[in-house]
Amino acid sequence: MQGEVWYPSDDVVAAAVVPDHDALAAAAAADPVGFWADRANELEWFEPWEKTLDDSNAPFFKWFTGARTNIVHNAVDRHISGPHKNKLALIWVGENGDHATYSYFALNREVERMANVIRSMGVRKGDRVTIYLPRIPELHFAMLACAKLGAVHSVVFAGYSADALHDRVNASESKLLITADGAWINGQVFPLKGIVDEALRFSPSVENVIVVRRTGQDVTMDALRDHWYHDLVALPIAKGRCETVKMDAEDPLFILYTSGSTGKPKAIVHTHGGYMVGVYATMKYVFDLREEDRYWCTADPGWITGHSYLVYGPLLNGATAFMYEGGPTYPYPNKWWQLIEYYGITIFYTAPTAIRSLMRFGDAWVNRHDLSSLRLLGSVGEPINPEAWRWFHRVIGKERCPLMDTWWQTETGAFQICPTPSMPLKPGSAGKPFFGQAVEILDEEGRPVPAGQEGLLVLTNPWPAMLRTLYREDERYVESYWSKFPGKYLAGDAARVDEDGYVWVIGRSDDVIKVSGHRLGTAEVESALVSHPVVTEAAAIGLPHEVKGNAIHAFVVIKPGIEPTLELGEQIRQHVGAQLSPIAKPDTVEFVYSLPKTRSGKIMRRVLKARALGQDEGDLSTLEAD
Ligand code: WT7
Repeated sequence: MQGEVWYPSDDVVAAAVVPDHDALAAAAAADPVGFWADRANELEWFEPWEKTLDDSNAPFFKWFTGARTNIVHNAVDRHISGPHKNKLALIWVGENGDHATYSYFALNREVERMANVIRSMGVRKGDRVTIYLPRIPELHFAMLACAKLGAVHSVVFAGYSADALHDRVNASESKLLITADGAWINGQVFPLKGIVDEALRFSPSVENVIVVRRTGQDVTMDALRDHWYHDLVALPIAKGRCETVKMDAEDPLFILYTSGSTGKPKAIVHTHGGYMVGVYATMKYVFDLREEDRYWCTADPGWITGHSYLVYGPLLNGATAFMYEGGPTYPYPNKWWQLIEYYGITIFYTAPTAIRSLMRFGDAWVNRHDLSSLRLLGSVGEPINPEAWRWFHRVIGKERCPLMDTWWQTETGAFQICPTPSMPLKPGSAGKPFFGQAVEILDEEGRPVPAGQEGLLVLTNPWPAMLRTLYREDERYVESYWSKFPGKYLAGDAARVDEDGYVWVIGRSDDVIKVSGHRLGTAEVESALVSHPVVTEAAAIGLPHEVKGNAIHAFVVIKPGIEPTLELGEQIRQHVGAQLSPIAKPDTVEFVYSLPKTRSGKIMRRVLKARALGQDEGDLSTLEAD
C-alpha cells in the first residue's frame, strides 16, 4: 500500500465484528440490496417488507416498502423485554456537576411520561415538534417521545439565534416547542427561554411550549402557552403506559435543517425504517460495538451526528452512551480526559476541530489521566489533517486504538465512507465506501477522473438511511442532489481516490463553508451581513484556519458617507452572530468599495478568495467591467 499506513494489531482484527473487511465489502458489492435486507432482519418489525428497495420513482427511493415499524420499538421497547432491561442506556453529566443515569427500563419510563404529556397537548402522528434543548437527558426523552407517537421532531441546536429558531419553527409549522429555561455554558447561564419568547412572536402554528427547568433563574411564562415540564409530569395524564405507534417504514421520523449553497436552509427528511437500519448497522460495524462498551459521542443532538450516533445509534444497538453537557476546555482543558478516565469510556467519537484545539494545550493535560479504557476512536465533520490524526492516535489512543474517520452528511443519515477497525488506515483518509456503497470522482462533465486526481464526489448506490426529500421542496431535492449527474448522488464535496481505493475528502466544492465542522451557507451569512443597517452588499468566503478548519472572511460594501471603522467591523461581526448563530460570526470583516461580479451579477467568491490569500486571481474574463 502507498503512503503512510497504520496496520491494526492482530488482536484488534481477530476481535472485530467484521474481521475481514474486504470479504464483506465484496459480498455487499455483489448484492447491496441483499446486504441491507440482512441488516434489517437483525431488527424487529411489526410487519415485514414487500420490497427492500423500490427505485421505480427515483430519485425518490423507498426502502422496506410495506413494512411497519417504529424506531423506538427497536431503540427502547424491545430492550425492556430482553437482557438489556437493566443495562445503562445513558450516563449523563452536567457542566455544573449534576449527573444522572438511566437504564433501558428507566429510559422507557421517562419516554413514556414525556410521550403522554406531548400527546395530551394534541400532538398526533405526522405533527411537527421543535426541540430546542441543551445537552440534557430530556433531549433524548423528547426526541424518542415524538418518534414513539409518530410525530416528526425538528431539533434546533440550542446555540442558534431567535431568528434562526423562528425560521425553522415556522417552516416546519411546529405545533409544540420543547425547551429549557437555560443552558450551562462555561459556568454561565445561557437564557434559552428568552430566545424562545423572541422567536415565537410571530409563530401562529405553535400552541404550546414545554419548559424544562435546568438553570433555575427567573423566566417569563405565558400563562396560556408555556408549561413547566415538572408540573406536567406530575399530572395524572403523564402516568401509565404509552403505546408505540406502528409506523410505515417510509413515514418521516424527523426533519433536520442544514445549510445549502443557496437561499434558506434545507429541511432534510429521514424515515423510521431506512434510517433505523442504516444507523444501526454502521454503528455496529464501524465502532465495533461490544456489550460492555461505554461510548461517548461529543456532538450535540442539534446536529445529525448527535441524532444518529449519540441518540439513536447506541440505543438501536443496546449500548451504553455517555453525554456531557459542557465543552472540552471548561474549567480546564483536561475536562474530556478526566471524564474518559472517571467513566471508563471505551469508544470516543469527536471532531477534528476539537482535536486541533486540544492539541494546542500540549500533551501534559492528557498525560495526567489514565486513558487505558479507550479501545477505539472516531472523527467526523471535516477532513482530519494528518497531524491532528497522528496526535489523536498517539496521545489519546496510545497507538493502540483504531481511529475511524467517518465521512457522511446530514443528508446521508449514516456513514458512507469510513474504515472498519480490521482495515489498515491512512492518516487523513476516510477509508473506503461503507458496505453496499460505491463512489465515483467525476469532472465537471461527469467523466470519471483517474486515480489520484481531484474531482466531484458522488455516491452511486442508493442506501437505506438516505434523505427522502427536502421537506415540502421535492423539486429542490432533485435539483440539489440528482440533477448535475442524473442517477448519481452529488455530495457537494471535492475528493480523490488513491491507487489503493482510499478516499481523500478535500472539502466542500459548493458555496458551503465548514467552520469548526459546522456547515454554513455563504448565502445565509451574506443575508445576515446585509441585514445590518449600513451594509449594502456583502460576500462571505472561507479561509484556512488552524483550529476551525475554515474561518469566515466577510467583504462588505457600506452606505456612502459612513466611516469604515474597527468598531463598525466589530458591530457587524456581532450582528451576524446574533442573527444566525455565534458559529457564523466572521473572523474578519473587510470594507471594500465594490465586489467582483460576473456579467450576470453573481459574486465571484473565487476571485475574492484568491485575493485574500494573495494568490493569482485566475480567469477574470467574465468579470463585470468596473
Ligand atoms: C459535510 C457534511 C455528518 C457528520 C457531521 C457533518 C464534511 C463530514 C467528514 C470527514 C471529510 C467530512 C463534508 C460533508 N465532512 N465528515 N470524515 N472527512 N469531510 O454533517 O453538517 O451535514 O456536513 O461535512 O464536507 O459534505 P453536515
